[in-house]
Amino acid sequence: MKAVIYKKFGSPDVLQLAEVEKPKPAENEILLKVHATSANAYDWRHLRADPFLIHFMGAGLFKPKHPILGADMAGTVEAVGTNVKSFKPGDRVFGEGGYGGFAEYACAGANRFVMIPEGISFEEAAAAPMAALTSLQGLRDKGKIKAGDKVLVNGASGGVGSFAVQIAKSFDAEVTGVCSTSKVDFVRSLGADHVLDYRSEDITRSGKKYDLILDIAAYRPSADYKRILQPGGMYVMIGGSIGRIFSMMFKSIIGNRNMTVMIAEVKQADLEDIAGMLGSGKIRSVIDKQFPLEKTAEALRYLEQGKVCGKVVVRVGS
Ligand SMILES: NC(=O)c1ccc[n+]([C@@H]2O[C@H](COP(=O)([O-])OP(=O)(O)OC[C@H]3O[C@@H](n4cnc5c(N)ncnc54)[C@H](OP(=O)(O)O)[C@@H]3O)[C@@H](O)[C@H]2O)c1
Repeated sequence: MKAVIYKKFGSPDVLQLAEVEKPKPAENEILLKVHATSANAYDWRHLRADPFLIHFMGAGLFKPKHPILGADMAGTVEAVGTNVKSFKPGDRVFGEGGYGGFAEYACAGANRFVMIPEGISFEEAAAAPMAALTSLQGLRDKGKIKAGDKVLVNGASGGVGSFAVQIAKSFDAEVTGVCSTSKVDFVRSLGADHVLDYRSEDITRSGKKYDLILDIAAYRPSADYKRILQPGGMYVMIGGSIGRIFSMMFKSIIGNRNMTVMIAEVKQADLEDIAGMLGSGKIRSVIDKQFPLEKTAEALRYLEQGKVCGKVVVRVGS
């Protein structure tokens, strides 16, 4: 089968299209014929081994442990492991398999997948898992979002942010999205009630306060956000500068109760919730650009530039 592999850490230039052996599913896994996958910061961080600590968190010490990247995937089940009863060959599924999506076939735990709702394409399904799971868990589980809450989504225009704005709206919150100048209209089109352009105003000096702040682009001291957090409100850091994330992890450990970092977990029940929201039209995957498998390196380069509005999808096959 064809796959995009990497044999050493580096820029997207080290990725190459290669012929590799088709994987076989272990007893709790499914073998997926991949139709689409999406690119995440998670992929390029593994590729570049950035931050360095990622070497010890699954990327491999001296050479890549998982030579095929691509965490999000959507496709048809080709075969199932002996213990898998929830899926059968031919099922249309999507999920977050961890690794292996930049390929014609991939194996991953069956409990990391759910059925694609009717009317949703492979591309739309592949765009959702990591970004939508992160948004849902950040807003609902860590942020305890409720109707009427004033929610600030910082980094509203990217993959995670485009889902976070929509999911927050689905909880009937009053949503303010923060993005750069050229993306203001895009964030408004996602349903944000208010949009702030961080290039033209200091969002932490507006005087407005929020019940929940989802910080997907943490590039400034979290202390700045204390100014705009309501008493009893919650600040949840999702991504941005690695230095800021580590500093926030430390602060959470020493007991900062209303400011925290969240690392998303793959939970089948949450994927079911996301499938439900996609199927009912409560949320939609917004795809900025699609690339064929052979151009995966270009897809990652494009994502890394930070210019995306929504998600970058890699199509596999015709
Ligand atoms: N905690 C978790 O479990 C988890 C899961 C998934 C992703 N993440 C992290 O979340 C972050 C976002 O992921 P993503 O998939 O949404 O990435 P993305 O699609 O690349 O979007 C990132 C957005 O951040 C904004 N941005 C870039 N530089 C900025 C700056 N200096 N100041 C303010 N905003 C800036 C950009 O929008 P503008 O041009 O509009 O500013 C960009 O669209 C990444 O750091 C990723 O590693 C964490």
